[in-house]
Amino acid sequence: MNRVLCVGSVNMDLVISLKEKAPAGGETVFASEYRYVPGGKGANQAVAAARMGGAVTFLGRIGRDENGKALRNGLEREGIDTLLLEESDRPTGLAAIQVEPSGQNRIIVISGANMTLTAAAVTDALKHGGYDCVLVGLEVPLEAVHAACREGAARGIPVVLDAGPAMKLDLEPLRGLTILSPNESEAQAICGIPVTDAASARRAAEWMAQRCSPAFVVIKMGGKGAFVFGKGLAEMIPAYPCEPVDSTAAGDCFTAVLALEYIASGDMRAAASYACAAAALSVTRPGAQPSLPTRKEVDAWLRRGV
Ligand code: RIB
Repeated sequence: MNRVLCVGSVNMDLVISLKEKAPAGGETVFASEYRYVPGGKGANQAVAAARMGGAVTFLGRIGRDENGKALRNGLEREGIDTLLLEESDRPTGLAAIQVEPSGQNRIIVISGANMTLTAAAVTDALKHGGYDCVLVGLEVPLEAVHAACREGAARGIPVVLDAGPAMKLDLEPLRGLTILSPNESEAQAICGIPVTDAASARRAAEWMAQRCSPAFVVIKMGGKGAFVFGKGLAEMIPAYPCEPVDSTAAGDCFTAVLALEYIASGDMRAAASYACAAAALSVTRPGAQPSLPTRKEVDAWLRRGV
């Protein structure tokens, strides 16, 4: 079983199911319901990795509040080691998520405690851990992300960066990454190239690869699939058709499954295809962590011949 260190955010998601479209500026619209659902890109990746069979340790920060307690309990119920999930003086992260009936979502994150994670905590975890893989995302301070890349690479541990949410990102401090995985808008925010198809994805992947030399750039392209670039590969891995209900956490699911599969098999094409299947299945279910499939569920879904 692969030992995975997940370095990232943990949020309580306030999910608002809209009756129709999201409001425009100055407009009021009605929603049919709201729910509190465990989320946060880092914690979502940790749960996805655990449901795939990884032995996961989560490194992050919560507040001293009820949301923090509930999120910790949720991770523990998944069998995730939360010894490195410490409390800080800031409130637990919260994400307000509007979901349209089409499954399209809009997310506002109030980072809170997530922004108190330090580079020293990451370095310390990697010094003592003995991990097979590090998964890291961008909802925590960049110094912590840089430390994960630097310290992971120095110890020969593959580091996988989910480049969400979209932001201008200096790639130079990310040298040593094994996989850099943005979605289309994240890739555009990084390199300025609008990513719409295989040709533009290739240009964006080349641009990013030149700046930080990861073994692979894998661009998540939703219903189109994933563009895989590196080690002689430059191709679109097709998505699986599905009836979308809610795309929240589909990207987190993809990156975690990609990392686990690639670490286990060394076959990037197969890993990306399996990750596309897991992400597609997650899109058919509402919410962040509740939508993430187990390995058994993905295998059964694929056997049914989608
Ligand atoms: O990627 C989805 C996640 O983004 C949500 O769970 C929300 O918490 C935000 O971090």
